[in-house]
Amino acid sequence: MKIGIGSDHAGFEMKESLKAYLCSRGMEAVDFGCQSTESTDYPDIGYPLAKAVASKNVDKGILICGTGIGMSIVANKVPGARAALAGNVRTARLSREHNNANILVLGARVIGLDEAKDITQVFLDTEFAGGRHARRVNKITMGEAGKGEG
Ligand code: RB5
Repeated sequence: MKIGIGSDHAGFEMKESLKAYLCSRGMEAVDFGCQSTESTDYPDIGYPLAKAVASKNVDKGILICGTGIGMSIVANKVPGARAALAGNVRTARLSREHNNANILVLGARVIGLDEAKDITQVFLDTEFAGGRHARRVNKITMGEAGKGEG
């Protein structure tokens, strides 16, 4: 599995740690930056990563900023991106089962590195449940195409 991963300066340390974790699980991590703790603007990282996920250049994405909020706002403006800000494993699991989320967003100033790894593991290992949830996700896709709200 090919995973795009990116952060701003606030999430840099967590990004590096999760990159190593992904590699230890035999996954390919594609790094969208940033490359240090020097101040960075999260849209500069979030947009390219979300576009790569939406165009299926990578299988899934992980975005990290201080709270996770900025990256969530950015990623969800890209049609085809379904970014889920998850602060615990339950939310991460449900974001996959119910929302078919394709980008996990983490807040590096909100959760610790161990929690981030647990959340990432559950996000990557959980399948979309389909069924009634597919109908709802399809309505999101229709809305993106300007074809009404359901
Ligand atoms: C950077 O200071 C901070 O604003 C950013 O990481 C993020 O939390 C924005 O939502």
